[in-house]
Amino acid sequence: MFITFEGIDGSGKSTQILLLREYLVKNGHKVVTLREPGGTELSEYIRAVLLNKKLEVSDISELLLFQAARADLVKTIVLPSLDQGRIVLSDRFFDSTTAYQGYGRGIDMEIIEKSNQIGSLGVLPDMTFYLNIERSVGIDRDKEKDRDRMELSGDEFYDRVIHGYDELAKNESRFITIDGNQDVKTIHALVVAEVEKLINK
Ligand SMILES: Nc1ncnc2c1ncn2[C@@H]1O[C@H](COP(=O)(O)OP(=O)(O)O)[C@@H](O)[C@H]1O
Ligand SMILES: [Mg+2]
Repeated sequence: MFITFEGIDGSGKSTQILLLREYLVKNGHKVVTLREPGGTELSEYIRAVLLNKKLEVSDISELLLFQAARADLVKTIVLPSLDQGRIVLSDRFFDSTTAYQGYGRGIDMEIIEKSNQIGSLGVLPDMTFYLNIERSVGIDRDKEKDRDRMELSGDEFYDRVIHGYDELAKNESRFITIDGNQDVKTIHALVVAEVEKLINK
């Protein structure tokens, strides 16, 4: 089972993945948690490049670097873990590419979709949680944070990213949208209820 978490920085993805992992492990499941980009030696190198504030990265180069990192993660961790019957929880997956590089940067959607297929090796999440918050809430939650290259892309960029997520949520049946302004425990309970439904299907 493959479950992904989406939403802008500060929306609560990492927080909810930790809680869900704890819950699932307590209930006897084998769980693997990942973050994108990263999770393998190669992908962590690519992550460092992608988030480096000093680098200028063209839009298409950015897209291909994300997909290169993703392909390595899917091949070396996601697919083997799914084969072993583990539940894989990923902090971001290709919906982030659609939202950030597609809607945010404005790369043609056909290119985005084709590259998502290549980068994911055709692997599709069973369920995707979208934690929906406003940009200002995310910034308030992470005031002390040193912003990386992606996060320094500006307010209009983030408006487009959020619009992109909203469109995905409308069009993809695997998306579960949760109001990320609710408290951590309330969100966790909603997540658990949906995951239990999926497990019992
Ligand atoms: N529902 C919530 N309400 C208030 N604060 C939250 C909530 N979820 C997470 N936080 C806090 O907001 C910050 C960002 O959360 P995090 O889980 O790291 O988000 P993300 O991984 O999406 O960037 C953290 O300090 C976290 O403790
Ligand atoms: Mg996080």
